[in-house]
Amino acid sequence: MNNRKVLVTGGLGYIGSHTVVELQNEGCEVVIIDDLSNASISVLDGITAITGKKPQFEEIDLKDKAKVQDFFKRHSDIEGVIHFAASKAVGESVEKPLHYYENNINTLVYVLQELKTFNKKNFIFSSSCTVYGQADTLPISEEAPVKPAESPYGNTKQIGEEIIKDTCKIDESFKAIALRYFNPIGAHSSTEIGELPIGVPQNLVPFITQTAIGLREELSVFGDDYPTEDGTCIRDYIHVVDLAKAHVIALQRLLNGHNSSNFEVFNLGTGKGSSVLEVIRSFENVSGEKLKYKIVKRRAGDVTAAYADTNRAKEILGWQTKLTLDDAMESAWHWEQKIRN
Ligand code: UD1
Repeated sequence: MNNRKVLVTGGLGYIGSHTVVELQNEGCEVVIIDDLSNASISVLDGITAITGKKPQFEEIDLKDKAKVQDFFKRHSDIEGVIHFAASKAVGESVEKPLHYYENNINTLVYVLQELKTFNKKNFIFSSSCTVYGQADTLPISEEAPVKPAESPYGNTKQIGEEIIKDTCKIDESFKAIALRYFNPIGAHSSTEIGELPIGVPQNLVPFITQTAIGLREELSVFGDDYPTEDGTCIRDYIHVVDLAKAHVIALQRLLNGHNSSNFEVFNLGTGKGSSVLEVIRSFENVSGEKLKYKIVKRRAGDVTAAYADTNRAKEILGWQTKLTLDDAMESAWHWEQKIRN
């Protein structure tokens, strides 16, 4: 991947920043676009500290079509795009649906429109297992039907995939891969980058680490009456560094022309489901801290269980996770300790 020029939109965000690190480790020349709406400029320093190389960065709001056009004119040598930039808070998307459609859909369309004129049209899309809803069978394979979205956020991922698929259909030179993530957690082992939730975290792991560090009173476990072994929900928690590496492999596949069709979909997960209580236990194990938590009622919209069938990613991408839940919880804890000190 030496000297390949890659655009990473949302490259200062949680998954984006870890992916930039892996791309730079593989010798890519990375250009980041980020509007800093949910990311800090200091992430650039973190990436630079890890890789010894400062990526190019442009602060652009992708909703500004003229700026997107101008960017692509100035960077006509881009060979691949990894598109993370999007809003991702499920609850907020219910409150502000039009903001989500504008921010997640318009921006995608603008980027695809500009890419259309390029020689190299290699596109990786940041999708989500949320497209499966409560799947009828577990583990969830890519063949599982896409269920009606539970939220505008989830809908933007489904619509996003459809938009890309339709674009690929009419232009064979357009190559895209949608990566459906399960639950990304953890941080870089260097503690230079990690998750930086704004306000009260909605996701489990940052809530756990913020509780342990004393920022939150206690964790509410949303329901222990689910039809699972311990009654709490089951998810497939994947270390963000494993996830980031999958993006590099997916992009490589497109750059080498190894894709079998010009629109492909892969699940990215560990294949192993863990309950909320198992995640808490893992945290307590690796941190030596006792976590304060209480059981409360179920959260609206939560599915009982979701974990990935990872066969397609293993066989076709040649990728699988290497890091464990404990690794991820330990890194998340080290990161939390570092940013609060
Ligand atoms: C959530 C989103 C999903 C999105 C994903 C991105 C919802 C309903 N779903 O998935 O669309 O793609 O984040 O990472 O918001 N939990 C607690 N207490 C908490 C927080 C979470 O018990 O304070 C439980 C939840 O009930 C769930 C598990 O922990 O069983 C994981 O929750 P979370 O991290 O929010 O991820 P998802 O709900 O899977």
